[in-house]
Amino acid sequence: MASVDYFGERRNIIAEDAELNVNDYIFAQGGIFVRKIPEKEALQALESWKEIFFELKAVDEHLSKIEHLEGNSLFALQKVNYQKRLKRDELRSLLHLKKPEELQVLYDVANHVRQKTHSNASCVHGIIEFSNYCRNNCHYCGIRLDRKLPRYRLEKEEIINIAKNAVETWGFKAFVLQSGEDFSYSDEKLAEIVREVRKLGVLVFVSFGSRSKDCYQRCYDAGARAVLLRFESSNEKIFASLRPKTTLKERISLILALKKMGYVLASGFIYGLPGQSEDDILNDLELTKSLQPDMYSFGPLIPSKETPLEHARLASLDEMLKLIALARLNDANANILVTSALETLHPDAQSKALLAGANSMMINLTPLEFRKLYSIYDQRRHEKIQNDVESVTGTLKSLGRAPSDIALGPGF
Ligand code: 5AD
Ligand code: SF4
Repeated sequence: MASVDYFGERRNIIAEDAELNVNDYIFAQGGIFVRKIPEKEALQALESWKEIFFELKAVDEHLSKIEHLEGNSLFALQKVNYQKRLKRDELRSLLHLKKPEELQVLYDVANHVRQKTHSNASCVHGIIEFSNYCRNNCHYCGIRLDRKLPRYRLEKEEIINIAKNAVETWGFKAFVLQSGEDFSYSDEKLAEIVREVRKLGVLVFVSFGSRSKDCYQRCYDAGARAVLLRFESSNEKIFASLRPKTTLKERISLILALKKMGYVLASGFIYGLPGQSEDDILNDLELTKSLQPDMYSFGPLIPSKETPLEHARLASLDEMLKLIALARLNDANANILVTSALETLHPDAQSKALLAGANSMMINLTPLEFRKLYSIYDQRRHEKIQNDVESVTGTLKSLGRAPSDIALGPGF
């Protein structure tokens, strides 16, 4: 372990076998040491942060105050949350809230809890979707095996170039490498890609689906430290019916094995799957919590064209915000991602989610020509990266949030 001073705040991180001395400057992500930073570079970065850091904190603190809730019937909720964990029936009753003014209280409380535990820190990872081939036929997914659409694969060099460009242009410091379950990339090839991206001095998340433990071990040895793998549904029957030839048990056992390997975990589920009951939703939240992920990643089912679920019901924004708030109240310490699926529900979904308990974002770095084909669901954002970076940093700034793993662009 190492203790890091961040503008007067103490944070403990896992230093692994890094050779660190007192007074070294370092970059850490998700509680993990990533690399040392030369003093000059660090001082420059800290200098550019100094002013804005305290300004952002003030905005965030202001927006997270809940004094105005005094006297409201739901104020008790906040007290309950501070003293003990919410019981299942309490979570259930919050799930039933419908009145806009009550929902607003719920979101405000969740935002307050987020602020207390995470201050105004916000992770901003870049995601690179490097292949839309997949051997699976998940009923909800627009790149399932049986869907006819042009397929693409990126070569190692292309992936490295995307990452390198993102580091140089926008200062990205954490990447998610994602693909369908595409076995034309051997375990060694994936590990090699990880090794090369890691050389950029960044945190590497892998998201390759249900590959073998050996594959994930090789990637870990090559420098990957985090994995994004959802369990998709805590209901065994729903899982088995929507993910042919796979079982929930296997999925969970893989997730647990990856945690044991040392991976930091991002996991979660899809909300709105046909047949999902209220109890399933509460179980989804509980199962996510029991896996002790660093980050929750859950989003609404977006019915995709030419898939068995194309006519399924689309969740409303409030249903999703409620779920984010509940996840926050149920697990104050985790990071909660605003998923791209959620962003498709409403133009302001991102900032609404950030004000209902969420605190993490992803920016898609896949080149536009391929992003269109990585159509796990329709209506994905097809913005130029520059526009996305500006819009995300603009949103964060307006809410007083400090992105922890992207440079401060001119917008700041
Ligand atoms: N709507 C929402 N999420 C989806 N995913 C796949 N298809 C859809 C869809 N139609 C999610 C799955 C997978 C992640 C990469 O994308 O949860 O784990
Ligand atoms: Fe493949 Fe993942 Fe889509 Fe399932 S959800 S078909 S595993 S890409």
